Amino acid sequence: MNSLLVLGLLLVCHLGHAIESAPYTVVNSAESYEERVYPAQKWITTSILSISHDVATSVTFYRLFDYIDGQNDAGMKIDMTAPVTTLVIPGEGPNCENNFTESFYIPSAHQANPPAPTNSDVYVEERPELHIFSRRFHGFASDEDWIVNAAQLHDDLVAAGEEGVDYQTYYTVGYDSPFVITDRTNEVWFMKK
Ligand SMILES: *[C@@H]1O[C@H](CO)[C@@H](O)[C@H](O)[C@H]1NC(C)=O
Repeated sequence: MNSLLVLGLLLVCHLGHAIESAPYTVVNSAESYEERVYPAQKWITTSILSISHDVATSVTFYRLFDYIDGQNDAGMKIDMTAPVTTLVIPGEGPNCENNFTESFYIPSAHQANPPAPTNSDVYVEERPELHIFSRRFHGFASDEDWIVNAAQLHDDLVAAGEEGVDYQTYYTVGYDSPFVITDRTNEVWFMKK
């Protein structure tokens, strides 16, 4: 069987029963956005420089998937979680490429002692408490959809008079495997300083 198909079946299987989500608390629910705090937790993370979100995450997703599929020093399979976050730092590369840093939440069972990745491009991130504003949208997000939704969230936060928001970087956030085509759930996040 072709390996993409196997991966697809694995993920459908993972997603068939409720998968574990990164914990958070809701600070405020506004009409078009939600303010949340994620406690300090470990994530498995990798970065790449690219012009395109789509191209970047097609590489970084598989690096992270390989880690949970056993490319770690314990040779251990680790459950898929949600969401998948990608920090976008615009124009950071030498040719103005964006820096895309994608992460999977490490399941609670492995938070205390996650196995080390064998790929040197992948690392365990000790993510500090994260205070964010989130805008949710649905569908198969294109590069443009991420930017349009980040711009809308920016406008809504400014209009609402929210203070201390860092607009230099943003997170794109997905809740579905790459094989879910319909009714996908996506978010963009800005961080509170
Ligand atoms: C991309 O950003 C991440 C997270 O801030 C950082 O660790 C990494 O060094 C950056 N990569 C490059 C090539 O600038």
